[in-house]
Amino acid sequence: MADVIRFSVSLENALLEAFDRYLADRGYPTRSEAIRDLIRDQLIRNDTEAAEGEQVVVVSLVFDHHNRNLTSSLLEKQHCRHELVVAVLHVHLGERHCLEVIVLRGPSAAIRQLGDELVAAEGVLHGQVMTTGSEADFGRWH
Ligand code: NI
Repeated sequence: MADVIRFSVSLENALLEAFDRYLADRGYPTRSEAIRDLIRDQLIRNDTEAAEGEQVVVVSLVFDHHNRNLTSSLLEKQHCRHELVVAVLHVHLGERHCLEVIVLRGPSAAIRQLGDELVAAEGVLHGQVMTTGSEADFGRWH
């Protein structure tokens, strides 16, 4: 771990109690670990909005695989931008529905556009585009 610095934070009692309940609900061992996660999350969100370099997003999609037009369209979109697609995990949720988790890495605008297109494809029942940090981001912080 990089150099660690201790600092104190002043909070209203009610805010701290709510934060401690948040920590307990999520199983955080210490306030410090939770605060580190919150800070990294905010920095990643902030940096991503302004980033021009390489970024990483994780796209999740739930769809009915009987919708052949959709499955074909999702594949076509990924093949058209194959240089951005790092990995695809396909899970058969049941007889009808599939969950796909797709990791995209590349220029921020390009991967966000592809992620948004996949989620917006007609027939996707639930989809999310989650941004995470790049190797360079975590290298700076840890
Ligand atoms: Ni499936």
